Amino acid sequence: MENIQQFFIKKLNVPDAPKEFLDNTKIFNELMMEYSCAIKEVCTKLENLNDEFQLKHRHNPIQSISHRVKSPISIINKVEKKFDNFNVHLIKENLDDVAGVRVICSYINDIYEIARLLTEQDDVKLIETKDYIKNPKPSGYRSLHLIIEIPVFLSSGKVPTRVEIQIRTIAMDFWASLEHQLMYKVDVSVPEEIRDQLRECAATISGTDETMQNIQRDIQLLEDK
Ligand code: GTP
Ligand code: MG
Repeated sequence: MENIQQFFIKKLNVPDAPKEFLDNTKIFNELMMEYSCAIKEVCTKLENLNDEFQLKHRHNPIQSISHRVKSPISIINKVEKKFDNFNVHLIKENLDDVAGVRVICSYINDIYEIARLLTEQDDVKLIETKDYIKNPKPSGYRSLHLIIEIPVFLSSGKVPTRVEIQIRTIAMDFWASLEHQLMYKVDVSVPEEIRDQLRECAATISGTDETMQNIQRDIQLLEDK
């Protein structure tokens, strides 16, 4: 930790950095470490569920998992937007998405099954569910969002830590990735006609997801006969 502080002092050219700045840097770094540990815990839980599912049901519900800790700039901007000023102590209580895990599933059913199996574990506390599959966003965005709290075990004790988990199918992820690229921070205002086209694409994709799920169910039934 000492090294990171010295690095900042040198980089920012502030040899007389006030103690408050150093203390806050230390708190911030420790907090980020907790989020990173929480992500590792969640990923292990998801990988274990996937392995077990493969054995029992002969299919992998999870195609891939990615994760990120929100960048310091984004954290500061989000806190400032809410409170008009920034303080490291405001992060933990007020931001739910500093630690983010994205799970890409094969079929719609897998999304709910993974969410259920994860949130039923007795060290996982479900804080909030946002089902943008049953209730898509006005943009057309579909995904299941969970905010969970899990304990991270450190030398100082057990630290409950929040993680945002986004669970969606490959098809929903395809749409979300391209829509994000197209719409994120565009300088012009995008006309409603183009927004309609994006919503239509999302609806088409959703129909395809349902068809693929039905095909999978029918093949499974044939195999089980
Ligand atoms: P913020 O957390 O401040 O973004 O607001 P919120 O809590 O209301 O957001 P929510 O939990 O509904 O969604 C947050 C995340 O979902 C975003 O950071 C994106 O990753 C994803 N998301 C939400 N809406 C859209 C959308 O319309 N398009 C795409 N591509 N992603 C979206
Ligand atoms: Mg959010």
